[in-house]
Amino acid sequence: MHKDLDPALLAQAAGAAAPADLDAYWMPFTANRQFKQAPRLLARADGMHYWTPEGRQVLDGVAGLWCVNAGHARPKIVRAIAEQAAEMDFAPPFNMGHPKAFELAEKLVQITPAGLDKVFYTNSGSEAVETALKMAIGYHRARGEGTRTRLIGRERGYHGVNFGGVSVGGIAGNRKTFGPLLGGVDHLRHTHDLARNRHVRGVPEHGAELADDLERIVALHDASTIAAVIVEPVAGSTGVLLPPKGYLERLRAICDKHGILLIFDEVITGFGRLGAPFAADYFGVTPDLMTVAKGITNGSVPMGAVFAKSFIHDAFMNGPEHLIEFPHGYTYSAHPLACAAALGTLETYADDGLLTRGADMARPFEDALHALEGLPHVLDVRNIGLVGAIELEPIPGQPAKRAFDVFLECWRRGVLVRVTGDIIALSPPLIVETSHIEQIAGTIGEVLKAQA
Ligand SMILES: Cc1ncc(COP(=O)(O)O)c(C=O)c1O
Repeated sequence: MHKDLDPALLAQAAGAAAPADLDAYWMPFTANRQFKQAPRLLARADGMHYWTPEGRQVLDGVAGLWCVNAGHARPKIVRAIAEQAAEMDFAPPFNMGHPKAFELAEKLVQITPAGLDKVFYTNSGSEAVETALKMAIGYHRARGEGTRTRLIGRERGYHGVNFGGVSVGGIAGNRKTFGPLLGGVDHLRHTHDLARNRHVRGVPEHGAELADDLERIVALHDASTIAAVIVEPVAGSTGVLLPPKGYLERLRAICDKHGILLIFDEVITGFGRLGAPFAADYFGVTPDLMTVAKGITNGSVPMGAVFAKSFIHDAFMNGPEHLIEFPHGYTYSAHPLACAAALGTLETYADDGLLTRGADMARPFEDALHALEGLPHVLDVRNIGLVGAIELEPIPGQPAKRAFDVFLECWRRGVLVRVTGDIIALSPPLIVETSHIEQIAGTIGEVLKAQA
């Protein structure tokens, strides 16, 4: 973190960044009209904090957008990007390579769960999901089971915004606008069950049997038509839904029984979020394919990746050697700046022990969040590692309004939280200290009381 830089100069520089006109930018996943009436601008970031163009400090309770796991402006990452930009800006990734892409892949597979030994680069979580779905279908075809094309997602799942990801995703608000989506998709039931699992610390006791929903889907479609099941080990964007104890193990066993590939979408849970390097490590369940993004570069340069078990990769390695085996990839796959940023990120994670630090901070985080249980309109508090959620009772007839108002008021009071529907989601950078946790939970508590 650049503690040596003069804060007055930085505030001045940030101030100059305030735009005169907000009209042309059509903002993603944003209430554009509301935003442009009362803009919330961020101009600088360092460590646990953002600053507005006016120089107001805001504590980052969400690691930007679940991605800045090592905190902002980490010197090794900043330097790696700057040096790479000067050295080589771009290298074509098709039929060409550059050293850092290979170096990064070797380093990544050293920290991923055993067996996930091959890396395919993308530029985002959404692209990682599309890539994994195509790998799954292509894998079955390559080994002579071309009938296995069906993809199974889960209600309330979020797998990015491209057509494959939205199709296997299960958030109605993201699906309803865009027509029939991909055919040949089905969904498992979600695991949220407030009647049986309320204010639970860590994974809930009840609901492992919900994995058996896959047997129902197999009975309906027949296993010979199903390529893969994709789930987030902990569902993030829908509002932090935890897998019941034993659920993921059961899903793994049913997939194995029927020859179905299991994909874990670890775009949020990857790189230390749960206090283990990956959710697969945390739960002791290894998927066949694993998607990541966000924390791979600490959010600094867009990048995603798919990790595949060797048997999936190897199934494609046939036919004439001069021909492309997997007709898929992006102009910016393995972009040199992203690879450099990811190498700087892995070094930073290792320096500070961040891939497991969440385990040490999980308890104070849990205690602080669960202290909010009795406050007005709080329906549920849940947590795992350094992810937490506070689910609020919706205002009758105005879904999502109560949580949005909490978000706005927290922002005004100097804490950035995230809301999805009427759920407040928290995922602070993994460098978070107890004082930050107290400020985040304390501010939410004051706002809930004030809005009662
Ligand atoms: C589980 C999961 N998958 C995929 C995505 C999509 O990633 P991106 O926004 O980088 O495309 C996200 C984003 O939050 C995510 O949480």
